[in-house]
Amino acid sequence: WSRIAVFASGQGSNFAALAAAQRGGRLGSGRIELLVSDKPEAPVAQRAEEAGVPSLLLRPKDFASRELYEAEIVAELQRREIGLIVLAGYMRLITPTLLVPYAGRIINIHPSLLPAFAGKDAIGQALDYGVKLTGVTVHFVDGGMDTGPVIAQRGVQVEEQDTVESLAERIHQVEYELYPQVVAEMAAGRVGLTGRKTVIRK
Ligand code: GAR
Repeated sequence: WSRIAVFASGQGSNFAALAAAQRGGRLGSGRIELLVSDKPEAPVAQRAEEAGVPSLLLRPKDFASRELYEAEIVAELQRREIGLIVLAGYMRLITPTLLVPYAGRIINIHPSLLPAFAGKDAIGQALDYGVKLTGVTVHFVDGGMDTGPVIAQRGVQVEEQDTVESLAERIHQVEYELYPQVVAEMAAGRVGLTGRKTVIRK
């Protein structure tokens, strides 16, 4: 459980927050051993290089199917004895090729209070809907889009003058704090699951 692969497709600010948490001793026994990205040109690849984390950068369209793309990832994860997969802005659905060997060992962070505003542009969706409270959810990953059992949530107030940028900024700050905490609990094997209910064992 301590050997972690982070999956990301974009800016990688959560990747950077997790790497900083590890350096600061806030990731418990967690060690980020690999970055996996489906967007080789995304800024997160540079972040991994700066953090001294090796990366596996694969374009799904270079593979004949999603299953073959994921099979290549699974082989690399097994070679590196990865025990925990942490999705941080990885904008693809996960198929059984990855879900089966890593059942209960894949988590995701999403910028809303799920089940509200799943999918893309959760922050824009929350603003458009006009909710007064949104937030951050960390959850187990299943085959759906942002649908697995919830591990932790934090609320963020929406202010009258908020734009997508200003709200995203406050949500991100909460993500950078919450995700390392949950990853540390996962790495310690303290997150249990009964049906859809998760418990953090002390
Ligand atoms: C984060 O806000 C994360 O919650 C979101 O993507 C962003 C990635 O930012 N994830 C999703 O919307 C998943 N459905 P980052 O690349 O700077 O970490």
